[in-house]
Formats: sequence, structure tokens, C-alpha cells
Amino acid sequence: TWTSGNVVDQLVEEIRETVGEDRVICGLSGGVDSSVAAALVQRAVGDQLTCVFVDHGLLREGEAEQVEKDFVAATGVDLVVVDARERFLSALAGVTDPEQKRKIIGREFIRVFEQAARDVVRAHGGADAEASGDHPVKWLVQGTLYPDVVESGGGAGTANIKSHHNVGGLPDDLQFKLIEPLRTLFKDEVRQVGIELGVPEAIVWRQPFPGPGLGIRIVGEVTADRLAILRRADAIAREELTRAGLDRDIWQCPVVLLADVRSVGVQGDGRTYGHPIVLRPVSSEDAMTADWTRVPYEILARISSRITNEVEDVNRVVLDVTSKPPGTIEWE
Ligand code: XMP
Repeated sequence: TWTSGNVVDQLVEEIRETVGEDRVICGLSGGVDSSVAAALVQRAVGDQLTCVFVDHGLLREGEAEQVEKDFVAATGVDLVVVDARERFLSALAGVTDPEQKRKIIGREFIRVFEQAARDVVRAHGGADAEASGDHPVKWLVQGTLYPDVVESGGGAGTANIKSHHNVGGLPDDLQFKLIEPLRTLFKDEVRQVGIELGVPEAIVWRQPFPGPGLGIRIVGEVTADRLAILRRADAIAREELTRAGLDRDIWQCPVVLLADVRSVGVQGDGRTYGHPIVLRPVSSEDAMTADWTRVPYEILARISSRITNEVEDVNRVVLDVTSKPPGTIEWE
């Protein structure tokens, strides 16, 4: 019978057999899959695993802390945090085109991760390491799920390992073999395994969030000030939707800052000229199609009044009532 306990035991056993005494590296994104994959590998081989978290400064409020503090406390993983916030902001300066933003964020991410991976490899490689009895870094953990495997034509094997020579654009001097401990599991099973492993609930139940993060939820140039505004508005919307018990009804609710749009408003004693925030709550099965979620008016009213009261420079909240198609879920 399928229990998360049995599955954890079995996967841990397989990982131990595969990895032996080698060292393993894993990139943590803050999402469900990489977190659960890392927690599993840490359960199996402990400190042979080093995780790398690239803080690109485009996460939502509290998410970097959830990885750096809560996840580490709950799982005991050895974590290297790379603070790349300035680097991403510089790279994004002056850029407004959505595709260009995505390319830049993806490119910078790979460069920063590569450098961090090299540092980890160097710390455990070479003659020094052999002399001290250390083992080289041979494996890279990926949070690939069963649907991804099927989609890429991989079939339904029971093996949880496949090897690759050149992973995701990593350079030739960084050749890892891939370890994909979740490749037989569906998303809901991954969540159960995460709970079993003690991964924080805030991570296990996280709704989908795009890799480029808040960078593609600011329509216009990405700046530190704009990120701060969006982060606050997003935190308020999430807080109220959670409080209303809507997290399981809503697939995700992007909150978007129209940074290049201003409208006139009146607040307190005077006229304002601020930015609109867009709420984009959607219901979906798989993100291929989506419908806008009929969030109760009282909840929308509370979110709207809190955002306009609490977030400086925002004087208007609007609701996106477009399904997908024709709209995509994200605005960029
Ligand atoms: P769209 O906007 O295409 O989004 O309707 C569909 C789903 O994919 C997420 N999304 C991304 N996820 N990297 C990701 O990991 C990305 O670049 C990316 N872009 C969109 C989006 O949040 C939605 O769940």
C-alpha cells in the first residue's frame, strides 16, 4: 500500500545505493519540488549534500527566509546562500520587454548557480580533498516529477536515476550525473512526502510561482522600490485569501504592479497620482487553461482597502476577469 512513510523509506534506500559516498549538490528555488527533493536526499545521505539557494531578490515577502531559516531548521540541510540581489537588479536596469526580462533572469541565474557549484566542487575536490578522505561532487539533484518525465517521453520506469552529461546548460567542466528522486511521483504525492519529511507547510502547500518571480509581475522596469511595493501588496492579498480559506480553490493569484501606469486618486487630504495593482486570481487544473476565480466581493473589498491604505504609491486595485485563453495567467 502507498503510504508516504513507505515511499520515503524506499526512496531513501535507492538514493543511498546510488550515491554511495559521493557528494551531491542541489539548487533550491523555494518551490515545492526542489525542496522536497533536497529534503529526501538529505534524509538519505545527510551532509554529503550541499544545497545552493540563489537569492535573486525577486521572491515574495518571507520566501527567502522560509528557505534560509525554516527549511534549514526543519531538515538540517547544509545550505549555501548566494545573495545576488544587486546583480539581478543591475542586469534588469532599463529593461521593460517581458521576453528580455525572462532571458536576462534565466541567464543570470545559470551564471550565479554555476559559480556557486564550482565553489562547492572546489571545496570538496582535488588532491587536498583526496588526502583528507573527502569525496568529489558527482550528483546534481533535480525535482523532476512524473508528469515531466512522461511529457519528455521518459516513460514510467521505477528507476529514480538517469544520467546526463551536460545538465541544463551547465558548462563542460561541471559534469554531474542527475539524481531525480521524485520522478515516479505526482504533485500531491510529493506534498505528502514533504510533510512526512517535515518540510515546512508554507513550502509544501505553495501555489505555483514562476521562476522569474516578481520580475515578470512588474509591468515596466524592475527596480528595488517597485519590488518593495509589489511585495507588500502581494503579501496583503495572500494573507487575506488565506484567511478567507480560499487557498485550495484558487490555483494561484498573481498580483501585478502596473508600474508605468498612473491614475489620479484622492486619499486623506489630497490628490494622489499613483499606480494600479492588478489582482489575477485563477482557477485551473493544470495551468494550460484557466478561468478567473469568482472571489467573494467582501474579500476583494478587504484586499482593495488594505492595499490602498497600507501600500504607498498604490491608489487603485483592479480585478482581472479574463480567462486563459485569451489571457495568460501571468501578465508577462
Ligand atoms: P502562463 O502565464 O503562461 O503561466 O499562463 C502558466 C503557469 O506557468 C507559470 N509560469 C512559469 N513558471 N517559469 C516557471 O517556473 C516561468 O518562466 C513561468 N512563466 C509562467 C505561471 O505562474 C502559471 O502557473
